[in-house]
Amino acid sequence: MRYAINPWMRPDRPVDVSLARRQWLSLVDAYRRHGHTVETVEPLPGLPDMVFAANAAVVVDGRVFGSRFHAPERRPESVPYEAWFKAHGFDVQHPESVCEGEGDLVPAGRWILAGTGFRTTPEAHREVQEFFGVPVIGLTLVDPYFYHLDTALFVLDEENVAYCPEAFSPGSREVLERLYPDAVTATREDALAFGLNSVSDGRHVFVAPGATHLAGRLADRGYVPVPVDLSEFHKAGGGIKCCTQEIRS
Ligand code: ARG
Repeated sequence: MRYAINPWMRPDRPVDVSLARRQWLSLVDAYRRHGHTVETVEPLPGLPDMVFAANAAVVVDGRVFGSRFHAPERRPESVPYEAWFKAHGFDVQHPESVCEGEGDLVPAGRWILAGTGFRTTPEAHREVQEFFGVPVIGLTLVDPYFYHLDTALFVLDEENVAYCPEAFSPGSREVLERLYPDAVTATREDALAFGLNSVSDGRHVFVAPGATHLAGRLADRGYVPVPVDLSEFHKAGGGIKCCTQEIRS
């Protein structure tokens, strides 16, 4: 690992590249087996975090709001992702403030939940609301291990979410309790196992196998946990959701 921009990344800790490749392919396979379409973007040398496609943009109703990365090491990633969107017929709106796509911007039915505290700024939240014309609800993250909203919360369906309360400021916790009295809450252990970096299609939840407490709670509510192990990616601070950009058309 050549740089460290979150507490998970340790330059002294090697990544098993061939295991990482197999794990990534297992995620693609899990999506396809459950009927989802997967498109890929060609990786560029020197941009290892490019695998975390979620951070490149947020797409709502076929409209793309791009990214402006906080870390200089990641800024060049915007170029190939934008090229991919353009080649597929989408225009890309450029943020003026630091904004890390679906890492911090989580479309949740009638509104967009938006994290701040470590990466995406409140100014970017305003830009996103103006661009999409959808209410943006700002939430403050307080734990550096959960530096992106998608490490602390995921959307289960149009009406509900799962999250780890400890990752949020007291006021933001209260906001989440008001919006989602019926939420699935996860422990910090679930979150440290990347359990909240999940993708749900409303029934199946693609989830890290280490988040055992959370998987039980999901099953109790009628969801079907589909375990996918991305342990090599956890070393970079990413998991299932980080590797997944959802194209909402
Ligand atoms: N190393 C990357 C970073 O710190 C990991 C990004 C993970 N992506 C995510 N959507 N949380 O920026």
